[in-house]
Amino acid sequence: MTQELWSAVDDHIVEHLLDPDPVLDAALADSAAAGLPPIAVTPNLGKLLALILRLAGVRSLLELGTLGGYSTIWLARALPADGRLVTLEANPEYAEVARTNLDRAGLGGLVEIRVGPALDTLPVLAAEGDGPFDAIFIDADKKNNPGYLEWALKLSRPGTLIVVDNVVRAGAVLDPDGEDPSGGGNETIQGVRRTYEMLGSGVGGASLTATAIQTVGSKGHDGFALAIVEDLG
Ligand code: SAH
Ligand code: DHB
Ligand code: MG
Repeated sequence: MTQELWSAVDDHIVEHLLDPDPVLDAALADSAAAGLPPIAVTPNLGKLLALILRLAGVRSLLELGTLGGYSTIWLARALPADGRLVTLEANPEYAEVARTNLDRAGLGGLVEIRVGPALDTLPVLAAEGDGPFDAIFIDADKKNNPGYLEWALKLSRPGTLIVVDNVVRAGAVLDPDGEDPSGGGNETIQGVRRTYEMLGSGVGGASLTATAIQTVGSKGHDGFALAIVEDLG
């Protein structure tokens, strides 16, 4: 009953507050048809992230974990026409699906997809002198979140907004020996737990101001963390 109710309320929110969007629908449909897992942000979380980016006046964004580009479309649309979005994806087949979805959304010129494990592509971005980004959305393999947060700070400035998805995992985050409910194992839980420690206590000399929000909805019980980089130490 609980999941049914959460999904019904999500449907209600979407029906009343989100415009019909054939481009986003097609992105999800083509992602499913290509066999990508159904783990994109929900429509209402996509729209919340877009609202936050607009509130913060974000012009440049780095995303970790593209999947089929569903979240990428939401995020890129919130940027100005001369904005920039770099998104990192390990799976070349997923990246191909995302490229098609982004082109159809008319965002192909604004979005750069870097294919490869993010822990390999992040140092390349840094070596190229890329950044600092106005915002960074961390949504790849959660076991590597600690490394992603360290790199995110190297690509940040004071004031950079950092959002980390999936930091509740149906409450499994509470148990250090717990298993991720979607099959990510204990490594995922360890990665997410360490994320809290780093956001709360800082990373190296850098400090952040952070909170996290639990969410229920069509994707179950999860949540996201939101942080502002205060200083880089
Ligand atoms: N942001 C997407 C969902 C991303 S799902 C959305 O909401 O629409 C997580 C993604 O991270 C998957 O596409 C997976 O292939 C990718 N991923 C997993 N390990 C990775 C790694 N080491 N580097 C980069 N991407 C990775
Ligand atoms: C899952 C959900 C996500 O939002 C994500 O980015 C990765 C995995 C999941 O439910 O397994
Ligand atoms: Mg996610």
